[in-house]
Amino acid sequence: MPTVYVETYGCQMNVSDSELMLGKLAAAGYSPVEQPDGADVILVNTCAIRDHAEQRVIGRLGELKRHMKSDTVMGVTGCMAQRLGPQLLEKARHVSLVVGPDGYRALPQLVEGARRGERAIETSFDLEEHYEDFTPRRFDKVKAWIPVQRGCDYRCTYCIVPTTRGAERSRRLEEVVRETREVVASGMSEVVLLGQTVNSYTDGTHDFADLLRAVGTVPGIRRVRYTSPHPNDFSDRVIAAMAEVPTVCEHVHLPMQSGSSRMLKRMLRRYTREGYLDCVERIRRAIPGVSLTTDIIVGFPGETDEEFEETLSAVREVGFADAYTFIFSPRDGTPATRMPAELTVPAAVASERLQRLVETVRTMSRQRNMGLLGTRHEVLVEREAKRGEAMLMTRTRDFKTVLVPGDSAMLGQYLTVELTGTTGSTFTGAVVRERQPLPMAG
Ligand code: 5AD
Ligand code: SF4
Repeated sequence: MPTVYVETYGCQMNVSDSELMLGKLAAAGYSPVEQPDGADVILVNTCAIRDHAEQRVIGRLGELKRHMKSDTVMGVTGCMAQRLGPQLLEKARHVSLVVGPDGYRALPQLVEGARRGERAIETSFDLEEHYEDFTPRRFDKVKAWIPVQRGCDYRCTYCIVPTTRGAERSRRLEEVVRETREVVASGMSEVVLLGQTVNSYTDGTHDFADLLRAVGTVPGIRRVRYTSPHPNDFSDRVIAAMAEVPTVCEHVHLPMQSGSSRMLKRMLRRYTREGYLDCVERIRRAIPGVSLTTDIIVGFPGETDEEFEETLSAVREVGFADAYTFIFSPRDGTPATRMPAELTVPAAVASERLQRLVETVRTMSRQRNMGLLGTRHEVLVEREAKRGEAMLMTRTRDFKTVLVPGDSAMLGQYLTVELTGTTGSTFTGAVVRERQPLPMAG
């Protein structure tokens, strides 16, 4: 059997796409392997969100060349493939396949062609494509990524995603529920619903509130998460569904991007600082104890010191449990690159802002986390910890990471833990009770 190795960069949507690609190729007779050495097919599933992400992939493509046999097929898939298309074939002579996010249905034929020596590019969009008939080969044994929406109809001025992933479209609710049932049947109890602006989900009949209610009540499902929502799509219906469905976890990753209304306008985020804070307030009121995480960009063209201070003050006001922070990276073809050059924030200023932002986020979460020591939480054992012997990485419903002692036999189990220590961002915990009590017979 020929073998295939897939390496994934970027967001969870890419992880999910890699699972679909592996599933498709496995069905066509390829055997998935975990190392590139000697693989007949190597696919690199790429991200284009920031220049740094692309540079990493370019470097990795060079490295992977050394793992190729003379007849190995090397393919680049995902957002960078979509963005660069033919340029990738020109720049990297050892790459023979370039396939964008809507082209994975043709992978078996494209790979066959490449094994006969052809070079091919598939970057057309297909607005009907959800890969419904694919059986994903999931990497994770504890939680399942379920794509519910592809593409994006917002036009944030910094963002390449509408270019690389095309227009927004949603899967039918029935299909998402079917996949959730299959996930439960395979022994998992947590699902993460994925979409670029996942709460704008609509299949023509059902909205995201309906979807949360339907997925959240599939028998055997114990945790439902979703990522990433847009603040403008948090209707009262969605918030009510979150509050009322017990399986939906008390955590929202709510990208803020900036705390300055003027910056938000130039980013075309379609909300103001006040609008964002109001959204936070509505969520907090409906879901006691909910934790919030966010994405923030610093150094967007024209950002002044005062506007950056507004971001810091919004961070303090909300009290995010965590934040992913980025320096603005200009992406070819996006509206932000057409803003006047004199608005460019110097690199040194941007990195200093990033540092201050990171410090602010850390200080806030450290304070909050210290206050949680001694409290008890339900955690799900997600995997073995990367560092530390016989330690497990577990998560609370509100997305805190807790390291607890244990072995791989405990993967997928729910435990009650008491938080015993914190590094500031993650916790260590002691198991209070090995397992939840079994339901009574009868
Ligand atoms: N530069 C920096 N950060 C970006 N993001 C998206 N586009 C860019 C860019 N051009 C960030 C946003 C988004 C996250 C996934 O990546 O914060 O929410
Ligand atoms: Fe990267 Fe965005 Fe593509 Fe995900 S959708 S891989 S974050 S560019």
